[in-house]
Amino acid sequence: MLNKQPYKGTRDFFPHDKRILDYIFERMRCTAESFGYESYDGPLLEDIELYKAKSGEELINEQIYDFTDRGERHVAIRPEMTPTLARMVAQIHREYSKPLRWYSIPNLMRYEKPQKGRVREHWQFNCDIFGAPGRMGEVEILDIAISLLKSFGANSSQFEVLINDRQVIDVLFTKILKLNSEESTKMIKLIDRSKKLTPELLEKQIAEFLKENKSVTIFYDYLKLQNFEELFTFLDNHGHIEAVLNLKSIMTPLQALGLIEFIKFDPTIARGLDYYTGIVFEIFDKNPENRRAICGGGAYADLLKIFDEPSLPGVGLGLGDVTLLDFLKTHKLLPEKITQPHNDIQLCTDQADSINTLLSISDKLRKSGLKVIVSLDVVKFNKVFKDSEKNGADFVGLIGENEKNNCTIQIKEMKNRIQKEFKLNDINDLIIAIKKKSL
Ligand code: HAM
Repeated sequence: MLNKQPYKGTRDFFPHDKRILDYIFERMRCTAESFGYESYDGPLLEDIELYKAKSGEELINEQIYDFTDRGERHVAIRPEMTPTLARMVAQIHREYSKPLRWYSIPNLMRYEKPQKGRVREHWQFNCDIFGAPGRMGEVEILDIAISLLKSFGANSSQFEVLINDRQVIDVLFTKILKLNSEESTKMIKLIDRSKKLTPELLEKQIAEFLKENKSVTIFYDYLKLQNFEELFTFLDNHGHIEAVLNLKSIMTPLQALGLIEFIKFDPTIARGLDYYTGIVFEIFDKNPENRRAICGGGAYADLLKIFDEPSLPGVGLGLGDVTLLDFLKTHKLLPEKITQPHNDIQLCTDQADSINTLLSISDKLRKSGLKVIVSLDVVKFNKVFKDSEKNGADFVGLIGENEKNNCTIQIKEMKNRIQKEFKLNDINDLIIAIKKKSL
């Protein structure tokens, strides 16, 4: 017998689930477009080499869905959007004025162990800006991420933006701890995973990686840093104050935008993907029951170089539907009515020869922008109201024998059961009443 369940780690979206997804997508689109971002999309499949170039080992070795197609091409289902975006930008960036602001909400697939906040297919809101001056792209992307969450009614007691800079991490590993690039990459992966490890396991792994390194205590000092001031003092003490320039330059604009209260330095934010080169961030729910990243992103200066194009600095964010919904549910930020359907009017009759009249009315109402359900067969009027309630109709239109003979329609307002008769030869009054939501 065939299994009715969806493939492991993927979801069926029944209409009541899809309404929620559509609602959050709408918020994402509105937020991106309010900053002047334009919508783009790309293919579901890409040449695997696109991800091998810069996405990082974990994605390639453990999470990618790849196969050889009928033409012997080794392809992968997109596990993230940034490489596709970079490929597309590499084609056209010369003709476009900068900055380039694009957004997308692709579905992505990663072979992960399904658990709370982690599935194998998720939808991810992506916003990226290319060619912004200085660190203003970083500021704008952070602003978009925070604005989106605020548009659901969330505030700084519910989420925080944990931030770091790959250049700080680079200075720490290569200049202060004097690790080679291979060791440094390993350590970036380790600190990226550190929140998921117990303190004992983290200590064990640090000891393994840094066993020969006499500066291990410096690394522990770094991990203890709590805020920007402590980081600045730490780097100054080690003679590398220049490494804080990026972070310092975003502070004043973030202050001007009133966003500083959301921002916190976190030494363990490193980002697992290989292409980041500057400021990196993750947004976390502050509720300890739901400590997963809702959003992650950062600056990547050199991604276009994999296509032999000159550097074009990019900054972006990825925000997943699953983690966002967990966050919104945790903080009761989803409107209650969101799972119910909504229609303006349901039309019905108990007269077989009036069905065509209903169809013609429905056509006129729809042309004026209304959402209209027609009962396609004769109905018993005592059953109509239950059905219209289920369909979320604001009004019900009934044609019985009298209405048929008088060329009228009875309209009932569902919320108060007030009733009024309208003439069918001039439907405008009816349209106005439905739009006003009052008879
Ligand atoms: P990422 O951190 O891999 O970044 O993913 C961003 C967000 O997508 C995560 O914070 C999480 O909300 C969601 N997410 C990722 N994997 C899963 C999963 N298996 N199940 C559910 N949700 C998931 C990127 O993908 C970057 N390409 C983002 C970016 C855009 N950076 C610059 N531009």
